[in-house]
Amino acid sequence: MPSLLEEIRTAYQKIRSQAPWKHEKSDYWHHRILPFATLAPWLDDIEFVHLYEKIRSHTLVDIYRCYELWSLAKQCANVEGDLLEVGVWRGGTGCILASAIRYQRGKKVYLADTFSGVVKAGVDDTRYVGGEHADTSATIVQQLVDELSLENVQILQGIFPEDTQDRITGKIALLHCDVDVYRSSKDIVEWCLPRLSVGAIIIFDDYGFFGCEGVTRYCEELRQRPEFKFIHNLNGHAIFIKITVTD
Ligand SMILES: C[S@@+](CC[C@H](N)C(=O)[O-])C[C@H]1O[C@@H](n2cnc3c(N)ncnc32)[C@H](O)[C@@H]1O
Repeated sequence: MPSLLEEIRTAYQKIRSQAPWKHEKSDYWHHRILPFATLAPWLDDIEFVHLYEKIRSHTLVDIYRCYELWSLAKQCANVEGDLLEVGVWRGGTGCILASAIRYQRGKKVYLADTFSGVVKAGVDDTRYVGGEHADTSATIVQQLVDELSLENVQILQGIFPEDTQDRITGKIALLHCDVDVYRSSKDIVEWCLPRLSVGAIIIFDDYGFFGCEGVTRYCEELRQRPEFKFIHNLNGHAIFIKITVTD
């Protein structure tokens, strides 16, 4: 039986010998990533562990990104505004955000989804064509919200921003954008830009995922804007922190 160290060494050798690749419709290089760090704080956080067990069948997002959402939402306590997730599917990550801030009085979490699948796929997108992830409903999400006794959630059904933007009136402290394609990402962020408080965080899911090159492209455009600091987290999150006021 190989030791853990031997297993890790073999995994690294395999990765090093694997050639980088590109999607046939895109210029972005991909290579298997295996970071060296091993600290796993999600295992020590009992509240998170219990929550994750309850939501894991309601999410497509892995535990690393779920824990990062949990942690970033908690850090929004002193940032003015509510939280918005666009791209809810069955409610898993949305309920992580809502649970993380359930004791932050006055803050709401808006969960926006068509509940009929991905929209606005186009030439910038490599794998998505539209209609994916339609196997859900607002009722499925509401049931999870009720099961977790969350009282800070508002579900918005329809294309965001076009159909449901009027339901949000205040500032935004955190946006979780998990919509898989370029055009939706752009429309959502452009709607949010004038509403973001200083200190607000935008988290993109799927940054760097093979098949989601449209999201990566949009993040590369957004990072040119001077009001944000940009962090490429190797787990598939792109994180933007608003640091200055802009017109
Ligand atoms: C990958 S799923 C979201 C996954 C979810 N965050 C989880 O915890 O697994 C992407 C979702 O985005 C939704 N979507 C895509 N574009 C949208 C838009 N412009 N407005 C509302 N929903 C959208 C789709 O209906 C789909 O449910």
